[in-house]
Amino acid sequence: MRVYLDHNAGTPLDPKVLAAMSETLADMPGNPSSSHQFGRAARARLEQARAQVAALVKVQPRQVVFTSGGTEANNFALHAVSAQRPLGRLAVSAIEHPSVLEPARALAQAAGWSLDLIAADGEGRVSAQALQAALRPETRLVSVMLANNETGVLQPVAELAERARAAGVAMHTDAVQAAGKLEVDFEACGVQLMTLSAHKIYGPKGAGALIFDKSLEIAPLLHGGGQEHGLRAGTENIAAIVGFGVAAELAAERLGEQARLQRLRDQLQAQLQRHRQVTVFAANAPRLPNTLQFAVAGLDGETLLMQLDKAGIAVSSGSACASGSSEPSHVLLAMGVDAELARGAVRVSLGRDSTQADIDRLLAVLAEKIEWLNQAAQVAGW
Ligand SMILES: Cc1ncc(COP(=O)(O)O)c(C=O)c1O
Repeated sequence: MRVYLDHNAGTPLDPKVLAAMSETLADMPGNPSSSHQFGRAARARLEQARAQVAALVKVQPRQVVFTSGGTEANNFALHAVSAQRPLGRLAVSAIEHPSVLEPARALAQAAGWSLDLIAADGEGRVSAQALQAALRPETRLVSVMLANNETGVLQPVAELAERARAAGVAMHTDAVQAAGKLEVDFEACGVQLMTLSAHKIYGPKGAGALIFDKSLEIAPLLHGGGQEHGLRAGTENIAAIVGFGVAAELAAERLGEQARLQRLRDQLQAQLQRHRQVTVFAANAPRLPNTLQFAVAGLDGETLLMQLDKAGIAVSSGSACASGSSEPSHVLLAMGVDAELARGAVRVSLGRDSTQADIDRLLAVLAEKIEWLNQAAQVAGW
């Protein structure tokens, strides 16, 4: 039995997405910048996808710039503002994905910017007070994600954006994990920049978007042929973008299915919490409906991941990008979790294809591991 419970790392392609992409790859030779009929056909398909992605977050199509994924869009967001403003400070939450934290650090190391990390509380939330404490007169950009990829914790972005606006500072939010799982409304968030990624919403890997407020002056990421409103040059990856568009439309239509995932997740959580060795992180915070992060005291997360993998179950230890290293998750450390316990972190993220049988199988294998731990502890007289 193969059980895939790592949807926050990547989702399977929706069959309708695959069909649209295959058709585009097979039948669309034109470059969308060409003015002949083949070019016009490609342009029409590109603009249809732009409208579909725009609709997912309720913006105008011209506010969408396609990128090669969430990582590029996050790098773009920091570049878009930092290249346009006098040197100053960036305020970035301590729990951001590395694709926000690392470009922010790079700007601080190489380009003369200063970086202020905004603290998270014990439940993984970034409060308005924490943002206020990080803001300085020279702060030019705030970046706080809509939902954390590890814990699933939702951030009060609209409230934070209000603080940023009052201080005259632009705000970016990484909505990669929230989009497709919750209703996301760009205007209601109050931000000027937002990141999306296709492969978290049953679209292809290697496609994403930066959504921008028309009133914000932003610097182009790539210079060249003037594609993407002159902001991101390069011939567009039409098939991936078409797939992203279809995935976005389906995601909006299927939001209602998240309630079923939340019931499965809550059931998993309740069962896990019956074991005294299990800690569920941010258990009381508002979270994505599909995400659960926990640790079993005495078990290393990477080892548990391998054991589950042997049993045919795919989960993640910390974030996908950090797995393979035994460093404890920066998100959990920022929440004040003890480093030893943080090293045990395992993330389960459900998706459209997840079933009760998947949860039962995971619980059965975990119960075996915990029983084994108990017996080992008895033998050792712990
Ligand atoms: C919150 C968050 N932001 C950004 C990314 C990066 O997106 P991509 O894989 O499309 O580069 C991820 C991927 O895991 C993510 O979870």
